[in-house]
Amino acid sequence: MKGLILAGGKGTRLYPLTFTSAKQLIPVANKPVLFRVIEAVHEAGIEDIGIVVGDTAEEIKQAVGRGNRWGVNITYIHQENPLGLAHAVKVSRDFLGDERFVMFLGDNVIQGGISSLITEFAGSEWNCEIVLTRVEHPEQYGVAELSDDGRILQLIEKPQEPPSDLALVGIYMFDSTVFEAVEAIKPSWRGELEITDAIQWLVSAGYKVFPYVHRGWWIDTGRPGDMLDANSMVLEELEHKVEGYVDRDSQVAHNVTIERGAEIINSVVRGPTIIGRKARIINSYVGPYASISHHVEIVNSEIERSIVLEHSRITDIPARIQDSLIGREVIIERSPMKPKAHKLTLGDHSHVGILNGAA
Ligand code: DAU
Repeated sequence: MKGLILAGGKGTRLYPLTFTSAKQLIPVANKPVLFRVIEAVHEAGIEDIGIVVGDTAEEIKQAVGRGNRWGVNITYIHQENPLGLAHAVKVSRDFLGDERFVMFLGDNVIQGGISSLITEFAGSEWNCEIVLTRVEHPEQYGVAELSDDGRILQLIEKPQEPPSDLALVGIYMFDSTVFEAVEAIKPSWRGELEITDAIQWLVSAGYKVFPYVHRGWWIDTGRPGDMLDANSMVLEELEHKVEGYVDRDSQVAHNVTIERGAEIINSVVRGPTIIGRKARIINSYVGPYASISHHVEIVNSEIERSIVLEHSRITDIPARIQDSLIGREVIIERSPMKPKAHKLTLGDHSHVGILNGAA
């Protein structure tokens, strides 16, 4: 089997972090979501992987390379415009040939990997297998309606009135019949060739489509809140280890990872949390559920349930920072200069929540 990972599109819902960078490269627990997807596909025994890229192709190629790091062989497939997931399959035809394949959305994080799914599909006669899971807001996803005996009745993309709470997870397995489907369907109301419509076409044409219901957690990291949820889930499952320096005045919980070259000085770190390479935590309180990237400095501050990307600096902030997604090379500091005011230099689409009554 081959693997097809989708990393094109525009991450508008994660602006401003994704203005210049690919959303699939934002890390959860200090590892880009896309790397986690590649690892899941590789763990399932697949070595031939195509990655569909768009506007952010260069950045993705730079970060991922040819795949040697994982022992896989990566082919990049250019999609001129993000015209839909089924369109991404269309443009990947040459790479996929007639082999069965798994398609994995590059911004999805799933518990437990996909090895058993792949083994099941590889040895089956199904033309397609989809993964479903129960969600609170099915209207935000592709939705499946199943019969009492577990057959697919219908599949609809982001319905206003969902017929069930079973959402399509961004993992799909196909054989070459999918190419007939992606040629047959028309663009949806949002102007995209929807993979959900292509699978509905397979069902209507009488092909065998098997619905697997996933019971662990799954997160589509499309919005900042989802990103923080994914971060918390992955941090909880990480095998933690301390490779950096912790001074005697600090308290570090057992479920904290401290990467090489990081320093924890006179601070409290509550787990689950990860502190990246060469990060410095001084007189501060970090965690739980914090991912601090490499070369970040946190001094005299408190931060909980947040992601801070590389080379950022947070200094002398008395109010706790929480539920925050902080980009690269950001500086948050207490300003000694008059007037006594919040002084902000924020990129377009930034979102700042200021504490009521904060000085
Ligand atoms: O996450 C699961 C959901 O993914 C499913 O429930 C929906 O049925 C499915 O349509 C999809 O919905 P989204 O609206 O969340 O898809 P999104 O536009 O975020 O794209 C998912 C990934 O695919 C993302 O990594 C970008 C990439 N992509 C997207 C499009 C539209 C491409 O590579 N090419 C594209 O043309």
